[in-house]
Amino acid sequence: MARFIIENSPPLKGSVKISGSKNAVLPILAASLLTEDKCVIHEVPDQSDVDTMCTLLERLGAGIHWDKNAGIISTAASGKLHAEAEYELVSKMRASFSVMGPLLARLGEVNVPLPGGCAIGARPVDLHLKGFSALGAEVVQEHGNVRARAKKLKGARVYLDFPSVGATENIMMAAVLADGVTFLENCAVEPEIVDLANFLNSAGAEIRGAGTDTIKIAGVKTLSGADHTIIPDRIEAGTYMVAAGITRGDITVTNVVADHLKPLIAKLKEVNLNVSETDAGVRVNYEEGRRIVAADVKTLPYPGFPTDMQAQFMSLLTLAEGTSIVTETVFENRFMHVGELKRMGADIKIESRSAVIEGVKRLTGAQVKATDLRAGAALVLAALTATGTTELSDIYHIDRGYCELAEKLRLLGANIRREEENGEKNN
Ligand code: UD1
Repeated sequence: MARFIIENSPPLKGSVKISGSKNAVLPILAASLLTEDKCVIHEVPDQSDVDTMCTLLERLGAGIHWDKNAGIISTAASGKLHAEAEYELVSKMRASFSVMGPLLARLGEVNVPLPGGCAIGARPVDLHLKGFSALGAEVVQEHGNVRARAKKLKGARVYLDFPSVGATENIMMAAVLADGVTFLENCAVEPEIVDLANFLNSAGAEIRGAGTDTIKIAGVKTLSGADHTIIPDRIEAGTYMVAAGITRGDITVTNVVADHLKPLIAKLKEVNLNVSETDAGVRVNYEEGRRIVAADVKTLPYPGFPTDMQAQFMSLLTLAEGTSIVTETVFENRFMHVGELKRMGADIKIESRSAVIEGVKRLTGAQVKATDLRAGAALVLAALTATGTTELSDIYHIDRGYCELAEKLRLLGANIRREEENGEKNN
């Protein structure tokens, strides 16, 4: 399997262009199943999760054309669609489950494997299913699959017990073609939800209130095609912003929406980094002589601190002066990076859903494993500042959600290279 070899690097400097958001493009691709017409999606990041979604859509009967150089995917779900998704693809990527809402709305029946748990937690789909039931679908779980059927979905009031991102998206996609009006209450307010609603509205849906905790969806008969540009990836941006801090550097992230980065910006300032909005984007820089200090972080649904930035920010805190407490409230098991960071010399103790981090003077290079996507990114960041060499394995996790991570970091001055399985060096 491929791995990264990372050496202690100088302070990273320069600017880096952020790609389109992984978590926005995946449901938008699923949503393209709602229309027979052609959809054109711009700023699509070249990541393996997007590959997986494209393969799934093709197997379901959609036509997909991905111009990777231009970052544009065209979809056409005009022919006969299949109502069954394959276990192999759904188990590989949980976001595959987001085809359920669109298929149910378009075909009136769907059969999708339960995605099951993953490294960061059990990740049930009960809220998705409650939503489909509320819209009038008959939902049955058997043999590890979920089957849902409804001649015609009907608008309803759906209250989510937790503002789940995936459930909000799936139910919203199902409701756009329902008879009547759906109110989705206590729903997620993440920017990716707004992007999905914008895509659907440009295809003729009538969705109001996305980005607030109540979304109103007035069902329409059909959707047309749409031309849509994906929002920038706030988690990729955040990762480079932390890279500036951990290497005591000066990085400007471009192609970002600064508003989406508010919770992270607040924490970067709290640890004593300078953060400013410039015409080009958002600049994070370390001021010589200023000490990076500890901070407490609690992950929460948006606009709270994102769970997808928890691991990367923890890497920064391992070197901060004092004691930090990081509390993970969104997922029950999202501290796998802790063991790996400890192998690099970090002083971290886990107490229930919190990690207590005593800042150390330096980290040391080691052989470590990417246990999931963001944990992998956190270890890359730690390795940039660690003394000596770090060999990071299982980087296929990182490929799922970062576009050209090593290339972009190298342009900022990082010593990182990729080695393929056969020992071949690959840039
Ligand atoms: C999405 C993101 C992921 C991010 C997460 C939280 C995508 C493709 N992935 O994942 O990167 O970390 O939001 O910001 O967009 N839950 C239930 N029942 C459900 C659904 C969720 O109990 O039916 C729980 C989950 O187990 C978890 C919490 O709700 O503890 C949040 O999950 P959710 O917001 O649904 O995350 P995802 O949509 O899976």
